[in-house]
Amino acid sequence: MIGIGAGDPDHLTLQAVKAIGAADAFLILEKGEEKADLTGLRRAMLDAHARPGHRLVEGRDPDRDRTPAEYAPTVDGWRSARAEIFERFIADLADGETGAFLVWGDPSLYDSTLAILDEVLERGRVAFEHEVVPGISSVSALLARHRTNLNRVGRPVQITTGRRLAEGWPQDVDDVVVMLDARHAFTAHLDQDLFIYWGAYVGTPDEILVSGRLADVAGRIEELRTEARARKGWIMDTYLLRRG
Ligand SMILES: C[S@@+](CC[C@H](N)C(=O)[O-])C[C@H]1O[C@@H](n2cnc3c(N)ncnc32)[C@H](O)[C@@H]1O
Repeated sequence: MIGIGAGDPDHLTLQAVKAIGAADAFLILEKGEEKADLTGLRRAMLDAHARPGHRLVEGRDPDRDRTPAEYAPTVDGWRSARAEIFERFIADLADGETGAFLVWGDPSLYDSTLAILDEVLERGRVAFEHEVVPGISSVSALLARHRTNLNRVGRPVQITTGRRLAEGWPQDVDDVVVMLDARHAFTAHLDQDLFIYWGAYVGTPDEILVSGRLADVAGRIEELRTEARARKGWIMDTYLLRRG
C-alpha cells in the first residue's frame, strides 16, 4: 500500500518511488467521471516510475450511497464490495509477485484501504503479506502551503470531519483540522473568534488558498467552493480552524 501524496506528483517520497518500481501489478479503481483527474495522476505516476511490463488492473469503484440513513452499515456494505475486487486482484497475482495499491495522501488518514485489506485477510481466501509506505497527507500539504504549524506549542489538535464539526465544536481543543466537508460546516461557528487556513485541490494546478479571520473570509470561501465545484464537478478541500 503506497501513499502517493495529495495531488502534486512531487509529493511522492523516494520510498514510494522505489515501491512503485518494485511492483508487478497495480489496482486502480475508477471513481466516476468527476474523479478522472485523480486517476490520471496515478496513471502518470506509473508512466514515470513503474517498471516496464507492469500490469495495470482497472476496476470500477462500487457506488456508495452518499446520504445513508444509517451511516455505518452502508459504509460496511461498500467496503465488502471493494474487498471482493481486492481479493480478485490478489488472487490473480502469481506466487512471489507484488501487487500495489496507490493510496491518496497518507494511508493512515481517513482512508479505508487498510481496513479493506484486513477484511480480505480475515476472509482467508487469499494469503499475502502487506506493507504500508507513508505518504504526504493533505493536512501536511495544506499547512506547508500556508507556512503554519499543525499544533501550537504543547497544545492538542483534533482532526475531524465536516459532518462532526456541523454538530458542534469539539471539547478541549482550540485547533481543529476539518476534512470531508461537503456542507460548509465552518459557517456554524462564525460567532467564535477563529482563524481559518483553507485550501482546495492543494498541490495541484487548480490549488486555491485562503486564510484570515473566519468571520471575514467565510463568505469568500463559500463562493470559491461553490464556483470551483460547479466548474470541475468535484472538490477536495481541507482547513485548519484556530481559536484565540
Ligand atoms: C477520503 S479522504 C483521504 C485523505 C488522504 N488519505 C490524505 O492523507 O489526505 C479525502 C479528503 O481529504 C482531503 N483532501 C485530499 N486531497 C486534498 C487536496 N489535494 N487538497 C485539499 N484537501 C484534500 C479532503 O478533505 C477530502 O475530502
